[in-house]
Amino acid sequence: MSATVQQISLATPFSDQKPGTSGLRKSSRQFEIPHYLESFIEASLRVLPGVAGGTLVVGGDGRYGNRRAIGVIARMAAAHGVARLITTTDGILSTPAASNLIRQHGAIGGVILSASHNPGGPDGDFGVKINGANGGPAPESITDAIHAVTRSLDGYRILDGVADLNLEQPGSQRLGELAVEVIDGVDAYVALMQKLFDFDAIGDLLRGDFPMAFDAMHAVTGPYARRILEDLLGAPAGSVRNGTPLEDFGGGHPDPNLTYAHDLAELLLGSDTYRFGAACDGDGDRNMILGTRCFVNPSDSLAVLTANASLVPGYAEGLAGVARSMPTSAAVDVVAKELGIPCFETPTGWKFFGNLLDAGRITLCGEESFGTGSNHIREKDGLWAVLFWLNILARRREPVSRIMAEHWSRFGRHYYSRHDYEAIPTEAAHGLYDRMKAMQPALVGQAFAGRMIATADDFAYTDPVEGSLTAGQGLRLLLDDGSRAVLRLSGTGTQGATLRVYLESYVPPGGDLSQDPQAALAELIGAIDALAEIRQRTGMDRPTVIT
Ligand code: G1P
Ligand code: ZN
Repeated sequence: MSATVQQISLATPFSDQKPGTSGLRKSSRQFEIPHYLESFIEASLRVLPGVAGGTLVVGGDGRYGNRRAIGVIARMAAAHGVARLITTTDGILSTPAASNLIRQHGAIGGVILSASHNPGGPDGDFGVKINGANGGPAPESITDAIHAVTRSLDGYRILDGVADLNLEQPGSQRLGELAVEVIDGVDAYVALMQKLFDFDAIGDLLRGDFPMAFDAMHAVTGPYARRILEDLLGAPAGSVRNGTPLEDFGGGHPDPNLTYAHDLAELLLGSDTYRFGAACDGDGDRNMILGTRCFVNPSDSLAVLTANASLVPGYAEGLAGVARSMPTSAAVDVVAKELGIPCFETPTGWKFFGNLLDAGRITLCGEESFGTGSNHIREKDGLWAVLFWLNILARRREPVSRIMAEHWSRFGRHYYSRHDYEAIPTEAAHGLYDRMKAMQPALVGQAFAGRMIATADDFAYTDPVEGSLTAGQGLRLLLDDGSRAVLRLSGTGTQGATLRVYLESYVPPGGDLSQDPQAALAELIGAIDALAEIRQRTGMDRPTVIT
């Protein structure tokens, strides 16, 4: 067998390879169409700077299609003159661990194989995310250029006549001129966490009377969580549940929220057995935090981490600033104000935090969609958030519910909820959205949910580092008492359209801080439904998911 570069011709280019909020995400079946994966990889290798002679990191969340894709990418990387490809045993690599490896090895970027929290398997979804040299999602200039290349692509290059990659154990292999290094995907990530958190204090907590449950949802964080929580920190065996990555995530939907991580939610919310519960998503970048009979909403979680950062070694010297995505509640804004640090409001999607992190303008950031992170990498990081919470709990030795209650009594409470209407016909979704957008100018000054609409706009963001403008990021109704209702169409769904409705209302310290969020927001929920004709136009009488 001798290695030769083959030039494969494409009769017709693929017209649908436009990366969304987090890469190209399609059904597994779609990715099995001959040349489909190859087309996107060819375009990426043509567009990413420094490919010839560079280092590339490749791995994924272990879903169906992961290993095949790694093999294809390695052979294509070889054909494009990549010098070194770093991948992991069994191809298992969480998104945050990939971000870390890219940074650590001075790679030109990485290819992360994941459709995040979307179900996997032959009938599920697959995805390809392209990250840049800073370890974060490639900026729009790159993803737009990749899309443009795919639309007129007439062929691709791939190495032929080489043996299959062996991903069974760590070691070095060659594919033609390409040096392939298979490493343990967990080691470097664990070392990074040990630098940031007080493992002694957390170990003391977990070895004591502190029953906890971590749900890896049969996805990528299992091996990371077992090593860190059970092997290193001494949590009893079995604290990590569903810890073996499966190609179809056991048929589940690896999205850590109250709907899809229902079993864990039951354990924590329905009994007094566990003091702490957490879950991460398919590729390990999302987190859900629970205490005994207490759910911490992600917007509040970011605010609590910010307020308690001085308890954590990696952040004890202070925070440069914080950022949240526009739909995330303003809970962190209040904390930032008290700390006297800047707080940025960005569009949805992690890439907008990247510039702020690279420029040293922020230290912590987060999204309402269960994503939290910091300047340690350029992706959100599920297990990092879990360890941050455990570090706070180890130092404060109070129940999660008390930490929340104290936080609200000091900063006030942002009642918050997101209602998702999934898989609605694209026409209906756009009809609803466009109608609202057209109505917006006339809404200012009108009554809404017993308040008045002060501002109605389509969120636009000027990047404070680059000066670039990103428009069309979500329809906002800002009310005169600081409450909000926001509508957005998802950029990550693969079936029809998903409408997201974000609701928020602020109660200052001294007000009624212990209401049920859905009850506290009931008036807003009714008003936005009536105004946007949500039920009528989607044909759904309730949201698919409420968080
Ligand atoms: C969703 C979340 C968003 C997150 C993205 C990737 O995007 O809402 O916050 O950054 O997944 O995890 P959406 O489907 O809303 O476009
Ligand atoms: Zn994810």
